[in-house]
Amino acid sequence: MNKRKRDSWGSRLGIIMAVAGSAIGLGNFLRFPAKAAANGGGAFMIPYFISFLLLGIPLIWVEWTLGRYGGGFGHGTAPGIFHSVWRKNRFIKYFGVIGIFGPLVIFIYYTFIESWTLAFSYFALFGKYTALTDQVSMSNFLTAFQGLTKNQYFQGIGTAYLFFLITFIANIAVIYYGIKGGIEKLCKWALPTLFIFGLVLMMKVLFLGVPDAAKPDWNVSNGFGFLWNADFSSLFSAKVWLEAAGQIFFTLSVGIGTILTYASYLSKGDDVALSGLTAAATNEIAEVILGASIVIPAAFVFFGPNEMKSIVTSGIFNLGFVTMPLVLNKLPWPQIFGFFWFFLLFLAGITSSVSLAQPAVAFLEDEFDISRKKAVYILGIAAFILSQPVIFFLGRGVVDELDFWGGTFFLVVFALIETLLFAWVFGMDKAWDEIHRGADMRVPKIYKFIIKYVTPLFLFFILGSWFWQELMPKMSMQNIALADRPYILGTRIVLALLFIILALLVRIAWKRRSRQNLEGEK
Ligand code: ALA
Repeated sequence: MNKRKRDSWGSRLGIIMAVAGSAIGLGNFLRFPAKAAANGGGAFMIPYFISFLLLGIPLIWVEWTLGRYGGGFGHGTAPGIFHSVWRKNRFIKYFGVIGIFGPLVIFIYYTFIESWTLAFSYFALFGKYTALTDQVSMSNFLTAFQGLTKNQYFQGIGTAYLFFLITFIANIAVIYYGIKGGIEKLCKWALPTLFIFGLVLMMKVLFLGVPDAAKPDWNVSNGFGFLWNADFSSLFSAKVWLEAAGQIFFTLSVGIGTILTYASYLSKGDDVALSGLTAAATNEIAEVILGASIVIPAAFVFFGPNEMKSIVTSGIFNLGFVTMPLVLNKLPWPQIFGFFWFFLLFLAGITSSVSLAQPAVAFLEDEFDISRKKAVYILGIAAFILSQPVIFFLGRGVVDELDFWGGTFFLVVFALIETLLFAWVFGMDKAWDEIHRGADMRVPKIYKFIIKYVTPLFLFFILGSWFWQELMPKMSMQNIALADRPYILGTRIVLALLFIILALLVRIAWKRRSRQNLEGEK
């Protein structure tokens, strides 16, 4: 165990807000409505809620409990936490590397996308795009901003880079001030603000009525119908089930490693059962109520059913940064509502990205006994360097590649490892007692069975399906343009190196620890 006193949360509300802040992100407001509309509408909610009950909730309890348990031994990240659970196994700590690698990989592209939301908040407020009225010109505005093209608005990537720097520094500053002084403080004001902005936008959408009298069918209730009318035939598609499970992972931020780290700052007797559930429920309200009631119904009343079909499949960036500004431009006070929309996304983003950076910082602090300041500098420099290819090779598919490995594939692998460790190595009886230590609720007994059998089987099923459907074509770069392949290969090499470096650091940390223990015994 290290000698430094570890950071801690200031209050129970603080950690619930922080975990909810980590979960509520761009996924709630863009990814969820687009996925639901494209995968059976209301029928999508069946696999979605089944995944929530059989994957999301069990993983929430597994991660909160394991995190608090590992924190008791001075470990805030998966290598140490896994080692605390299975001391006899020399290799398990290396599997834990995923819990630092994954969030770091997501962090390096997430902050760049987050910086677009800050930039667009500014553009909205100062009316930089209010004159644009169609998809083509708005899309040109976005691509020129991203440095992919040039036009009268942007001559290069300079503006985007400036906003990236501001966003990056803001993230680093929050982490620099620590768990209580930085992350908890940020989430305590950002989350309520985000909910207020979301409610204002939702109310605005609900009262949109029929903007064009010549098209009475293009109204809000049909907009909700477009999203929620159920196509039950979609339930027979394996893809729809995988999409639903993937959305649960993404939105709850499970399988990443961030919840383990956040929970490691709890004390032994702090409740995890009810707190975990509360944070997850807060995320679901933000997703299923707020997220579903803004972008799709609003776009429907202006674009109608036919165009909506292509809009929902055109990608979440298009939905958030092209369609939504156009919709808001048609409302009174487009500058104010545009600002609300993009700043809501920014707050959702930053409360998630700080949680993605924290595992790497915690790893350096806990396992190398260095100060938080130093750890934040190291993370800052490494993440800054790693972000550069994301920014400059955006058009080459680098973000998609990082998202596949860091934000999709390894999440499921990691979730499987931690569930097996928890239920089978730690043992379900001991695990059950551990969940209930200091708990303010009893977890329904059926979850003993679900965590032990159903969740791992579900995870095996997802992994198996991915092997067939995605991993093989992915590995062979089948669907990647020839010109982009060197960039994708380069990304993979960097990712492999990053993984190896982290594994080496784990090795060094454990060697150091055993040397110190020996010296201590002398
Ligand atoms: N859970 C975060 C989101 O939904 C990553 O965006």
